[in-house]
Amino acid sequence: MSRPKWIPEFDLDLSVSASGQLELAGCNLVALAKEFGTPLYVYDEAALRRRCQRYRQAFTSYEPGYEILYASKAFLPLAMAELIEQEGLGLDVMSGGELYTALKAGVSPDKIYFNGNNKSPVELAEAIDAGIRGIIVDNLLELERVSAIAKAKQVVQTVLLRINPGVEAHTHEYIKTAKLDSKFGFSLLDNSTIEAVRRVLIDQNLKLLGFHCHIGSQIFSLDSYRAAIDVMLQFAAEVRSQTGFVWKELNLGGGLGVRYVESDDPQPIESLAAQIIATVSTGCQKYSLPKPRLLLEPGRSIVGEAGLTLYTIGACKTIPGIRTYVAVDGGMTDNPRVALYQAKYSAVNASKANSVPDQVVSVAGKCCESGDMLIWDIALADPQPDDVLAVFSTGAYTYSMASNYNRLLRPAVVFCRDGRSKLVVRRQSYEDLLNCEFSLNEG
Ligand code: LLP
Repeated sequence: MSRPKWIPEFDLDLSVSASGQLELAGCNLVALAKEFGTPLYVYDEAALRRRCQRYRQAFTSYEPGYEILYASKAFLPLAMAELIEQEGLGLDVMSGGELYTALKAGVSPDKIYFNGNNKSPVELAEAIDAGIRGIIVDNLLELERVSAIAKAKQVVQTVLLRINPGVEAHTHEYIKTAKLDSKFGFSLLDNSTIEAVRRVLIDQNLKLLGFHCHIGSQIFSLDSYRAAIDVMLQFAAEVRSQTGFVWKELNLGGGLGVRYVESDDPQPIESLAAQIIATVSTGCQKYSLPKPRLLLEPGRSIVGEAGLTLYTIGACKTIPGIRTYVAVDGGMTDNPRVALYQAKYSAVNASKANSVPDQVVSVAGKCCESGDMLIWDIALADPQPDDVLAVFSTGAYTYSMASNYNRLLRPAVVFCRDGRSKLVVRRQSYEDLLNCEFSLNEG
């Protein structure tokens, strides 16, 4: 059956069964909730792959080439890293753990870049041992550390320098990373960054590929990218005139926004690509710079809309004249984004997907915090205990940011495709909670 109008349009395959239950990629979500338990993260596998392919497709015309590096931090169970590898993308990792997962999934080190403002010496050594394509050096201390490790191991490590272009992206304060006052990257406010370039160029164990910037996340305006590219071009021209170094690679980070609620109007991947290609091409002409190989690090815009979370509704409480709380069996433990960023979500009663949502309620989590809310004031169709609630667009930064607060178990993850479901992460068990712990009574 087709999608009723109260089910928002996301980039995934939603439908409603004859009995009125919500389906994803041909899988009945109420049945999945029963089979795997709730909360449950469910992804439309074809939608994940489609977005990888759209990113690749959108840049194919660009000479001298590009690499799409999926930002692992958004969601990286082993199966996701494998999917990325199968789709021919590379990976942006931020930690030894993400690097470990990438390598276990068979991602070629040649397609891995390592970001982060405080990588440990152990993590740097792991990355150098693995032979990854690029360490994106964030500061001078790290530069010295990479140099020393590479020297001790007698290898030449390819690096990029992360630059803070000082561009204000219009997004939430905590996920804005490139305003001038930021913990990330080399600042352009003085000459120290050019000094860092000089420092790399004289080092026999380092090879500079180019520069990196990342202006923020959940960005709707492509102007922010244009502004950042302009700054990077000017900087590259300045570097060339002062040091003679000419960039080979330009990494523009991630950040493209997605739809969470109907009013969100994200830019298509293709428009982002067109904007980037045009701005880089004209800018390179203007400064007589060669066009660099382009690197992008999209996270949310690959996985965000492709995933949803299923919950089972429990206690429902009406405070007369104030509001009705509908509590679910998860909350800030499986999705801390509402508590952290006041994120907005849309949802549907998956058990009654054909019924008009005509009761305005607020969806609460089950942690012992008043701030553990998932959605304020949303219209749902007759929410009752044991109904399954589907919260949309939860594919990014939920599983990866989940916690065991209140010793709640982390949910399972299921991929759906052509009517078949595949468990890619099992739900934690109580034993898992004790896995790393020792009893005082043990010797
Ligand atoms: N590259 C770098 C260096 C980053 O720091 C990030 C995200 C990305 C790429 C990917 O950005 P994306 O395409 O996903 O927007 N937890 C927050 C988002 C934090 C993003 C941090 N960096 C949230 O849930 O909204």
